[in-house]
Amino acid sequence: MTNLTWHDHRLTRHQRASRKNQQPCLLWFTGLSGSGKSTIANALDVALHERGYHTFLLDGDNVRHGLNRDLGFSEEDRVENIRRIGEVSKLFTDAGLIVLSAFISPFSSDRLLVRNLFPEGEFIEVFMSTPLEVCEERDPKGLYRKARAGEIRQFTGIDSPYEAPDRPEIAIDTGTLSVDECIESIISYLSHNHILKSV
Ligand code: ADX
Repeated sequence: MTNLTWHDHRLTRHQRASRKNQQPCLLWFTGLSGSGKSTIANALDVALHERGYHTFLLDGDNVRHGLNRDLGFSEEDRVENIRRIGEVSKLFTDAGLIVLSAFISPFSSDRLLVRNLFPEGEFIEVFMSTPLEVCEERDPKGLYRKARAGEIRQFTGIDSPYEAPDRPEIAIDTGTLSVDECIESIISYLSHNHILKSV
């Protein structure tokens, strides 16, 4: 950090957000592979867009094709993956957007680091609590089968840990709720907390 100076922007994050007439936030989806993070984050993205909100979606597999293509699945790389995504999410909320991030983000300490980048109330942890058995049964990408066969190492839930959040703002089990019910429950949380305007 030597020889670097932080420049304050003349336009504040508040001004950027009020131009969009919205309250920015980060909806941080965390959960096992196959727990429904991408599906629900995508559906919510569409639902918010249709209601006139300005949103942006960051998704694990896609970000790992670009920004984080140099990272694998060791503990160290996952930590760096989440650190970078936290910083990018911060930039997007500073730009005034409602950001949806869908990453396994298995470690509580990394999620806490991201939470601490944000003002109180702006980081909303959405825990996809879908049980491992359900995720493994779905196995949408065939990865659990490969992990059980020892063809993939360090697979979350099999031979790499997942630390469930203690006090997520929202918990959702896609094993028992429909996509519409999940969206409804998140939208209701956001309305109650004055992030979305009441309809
Ligand atoms: S994280 O643990 O660093 O947060 P991230 O959400 O970016 O993970 O990427 C997870 C996606 O990578 C999974 O949905 C899956 O498609 C793929 N993947 C490939 N190898 C692994 C692995 N060993 N563990 C978990 N996911 C993996």
